[in-house]
Amino acid sequence: MAPTLLSDILTQNFSVPQRYIRPVCDRANLTQVHYAECPVSSIDLQSLQGPHRTLILNQIAQACQNDGLFQVVNHGIPEGVIENMMQVSRDFFRLPEFEKMKNFSDDPSKTMRLSTSFNMKRESVRNWRDYLRLHCYPLQDFTDEWPSNPTSFRGCVSEYCTMVRGLVLRLLEAISESLGLEGDYIEKALGKQGQHMAINYYPPCPEPELTYGLPGHTDPNALTILLQDQVPGLQVLKDGKWVAVDPIPNSFVVNVGDQIQVISNGRYKSAIHRAVVNNEKERISVPTFYCPSDDAIISPAEKLLDKDHPPIYRSYTYSEYYLKFWDKGLKQENCLDCFTIGK
Ligand code: OGA
Ligand code: NI
Repeated sequence: MAPTLLSDILTQNFSVPQRYIRPVCDRANLTQVHYAECPVSSIDLQSLQGPHRTLILNQIAQACQNDGLFQVVNHGIPEGVIENMMQVSRDFFRLPEFEKMKNFSDDPSKTMRLSTSFNMKRESVRNWRDYLRLHCYPLQDFTDEWPSNPTSFRGCVSEYCTMVRGLVLRLLEAISESLGLEGDYIEKALGKQGQHMAINYYPPCPEPELTYGLPGHTDPNALTILLQDQVPGLQVLKDGKWVAVDPIPNSFVVNVGDQIQVISNGRYKSAIHRAVVNNEKERISVPTFYCPSDDAIISPAEKLLDKDHPPIYRSYTYSEYYLKFWDKGLKQENCLDCFTIGK
């Protein structure tokens, strides 16, 4: 069967095709989702510099321990840069099918590709999502392979990536310090580092309860910075309940990925989150996945280990981890289990 983007199927068919329908035991149960005014902490990064730094570091520590996910405001990335990133994402997914398909590949090892669902080769039920994946650090190694249509794509995305990397480095420093480690500990542990990005496009779905945008998963990288448009869809598992993390204008969602869970020896939790779809509006989200370089050796930080806190995880290279992640697919059981000592 020729690869088809979801956005293309929808122009022909107004019911959910069979291959997107989940078994009843594996559905989102949208009536059970919790909606709260402040579902997760919203942390003001303006105060990270100055006399309130310790207070903010404490807020970060609490959020990483309890939820593995928080929102940030006053993060220093100009509104215009964010708006351009969102607009060029929308424009990309509105291009005619033949134009978009020039970027299509179902090979996860490609550093630039348009695809659909998660890993088409491995899954029996598809997800209600198209996505464009890009590598973006070091920037000059990758921009030439990015789409050149829309014409402003490379410029807008480069500017956005550079600014997000700056934000990531400030957050990694704060997270290191909040663990009692040297400020540059995590950045160094990630080796030469990598920055990947996805532009997720979730079309409206006629029967959202039958399918997922993305089912529950943890992110395999170190830290994710998620930009979402104003359409709700992100949910996080908190104390065993799914909680909606609705968008706040000009904020980002930050989530701890598996690698920080390992480096912190389990003190910080990689958040289990998912994306659900709705029957009215398309939704776009842009996660930046900041990760170790392939050859970086990841292990729990020595300083966090003692007699009462033995290492929970064995050390491994990030490439070993990442291969396992793609191979397993987005299953409920965590990829971390494969690297847990005694499991
Ligand atoms: C992801 C992800 C959430 C969203 O791409 O890993 O969790 O809201 N996305 O799109
Ligand atoms: Ni995710």
